[in-house]
Amino acid sequence: MTPSYANIQVRIESEKVGIVTLDRPKALNALNDELMTELGAALKAFDADDAIGCIVLTGSEKAFAAGADIGAMATYTFADVYKGDYITRNWETIRSIRKPVIAAVSGYALGGGCELAMMCDFIIAADNARFGQPEIKLGVIPGAGGTQRLPRAVGKAKAMDMALTARMMKADEAERAGLVSRVVPFDKMMEEAIEAALVIANFSRVAVMAAKESVNRAFESGLADGVMFERRLFHALFATSDQKEGMDAFVNKRPAAFKHE
Ligand code: CAA
Repeated sequence: MTPSYANIQVRIESEKVGIVTLDRPKALNALNDELMTELGAALKAFDADDAIGCIVLTGSEKAFAAGADIGAMATYTFADVYKGDYITRNWETIRSIRKPVIAAVSGYALGGGCELAMMCDFIIAADNARFGQPEIKLGVIPGAGGTQRLPRAVGKAKAMDMALTARMMKADEAERAGLVSRVVPFDKMMEEAIEAALVIANFSRVAVMAAKESVNRAFESGLADGVMFERRLFHALFATSDQKEGMDAFVNKRPAAFKHE
């Protein structure tokens, strides 16, 4: 039994893939405090569930998420956000999730919505997806990592263009720029994301978690340190039964049956 929430829906696909759907349709999935707390709880529950090998985070056809909830933020004071640790308090839970999280993005992914998608491990976009960091129009700047993760994904020129002019990037441009890994027609988006998630869920969980951790290290360290981190994790995987199974299966031309240990 998956728990029920007020602002998101959760379900399990093929017993291995956790799916979280942002569900505040009247506000285009604007991300308020309650929604972000629920999202963190749902992601943590899937992360702790041994049966789940990968998570897909999605929204509606019109909006993945149109950003942080502007109505809720409008009256915040500096003391409110600083003392309350706004954003850090519950938005960054997603960064602590050790299983892969795929963002399946259709429609608007603006402001905090774009930032949330970028906090996932990769983005599969529908052809109607629109990415943007329009906070400058509200008299603020991106606050959930947009000025840091966007340049790492698309480079300085496009990141500056988007953060300073507030223009939206369509799915094809986002793919060319490296923000998204694949673009598919909207009616194929969930199928594509679930298929990718199932591929991942059938690999060794230990190797999958190590791969995620190691790629993320590339954004936190210099090259030599990052390569050393990767090398040691690579060495460590020879201690798993899944390494023996994966290589024996290849040598003997049979499918591997990983035990995730
Ligand atoms: N917060 C709160 N409500 C929002 C919202 C948001 N970010 N985005 C949309 N909504 C609400 C609208 O107020 C509207 O509600 P009502 O029907 O009650 O009036 C409803 O969702 C539908 O929106 P629109 O009528 O505006 O729909 P549209 O199709 O005409 O336009 C849109 C769509 C271009 C996405 C437009 O809604 C929009 O520009 N939204 C704001 C986008 C934005 O500025 N995002 C950044 C937020 S700041 C942030 O995210 C900070 C951070 O880094 C953490």
